[in-house]
Amino acid sequence: METKEAIKKRISVRVYDKRPIPKEVLESIIDAGRLAPTARGVEPWEFIAITDKSLLGRIGALANNGRFIADGTACIAILCKDTKYYLEDGCAATENILIAAADAGVGACWVAGDKKDYCERVKSLLGASAELKLVSMIAMGYPKDTNPPKARRPLASVLHWEKFSSK
Ligand SMILES: Cc1cc2nc3c(=O)[nH]c(=O)nc-3n(C[C@H](O)[C@H](O)[C@H](O)COP(=O)(O)O)c2cc1C
Repeated sequence: METKEAIKKRISVRVYDKRPIPKEVLESIIDAGRLAPTARGVEPWEFIAITDKSLLGRIGALANNGRFIADGTACIAILCKDTKYYLEDGCAATENILIAAADAGVGACWVAGDKKDYCERVKSLLGASAELKLVSMIAMGYPKDTNPPKARRPLASVLHWEKFSSK
């Protein structure tokens, strides 16, 4: 699939069927996260791939805006060392993973980590050390339904050539 096609096709998928995602597919998707750019090239991240159904259920129970994690067949937790640009770096990896998942036909949804009060509880459940920040979790599973992408603000209304202009 062309990169732009995968970007256009990507949507947040929160309803999954029960087919497991093969390990090599998950590894290839996570590899795309590892290849994201990082400020100063520090690669501050760790990726935890969770496929155990009872663990997925416990994460879903903690993450009150990501309850559907419990219904998926995998979840990727993206954690970063507390570097100056950890949030930007972790978000770059998150987006790469979402696009790679779309490319592989795997449904996925970004679930907020950083700033959420459940972060420490999720970290402790996953055995992550205190110095790591939970940037995001990505719920995953093969999509149960097909849904079109959401409408976006048109390019002409968000693109400014040379200087900002009010439109
Ligand atoms: C930083 C960030 C945090 C998000 N957190 C959540 C979340 O906690 N729960 C959720 O259901 N969706 C979450 N989303 C997904 C957005 O709701 C979704 O991307 C947005 O509504 C646009 O829809 P689309 O992804 O289908 O294009 C998050 C997205 C981003 C970028």
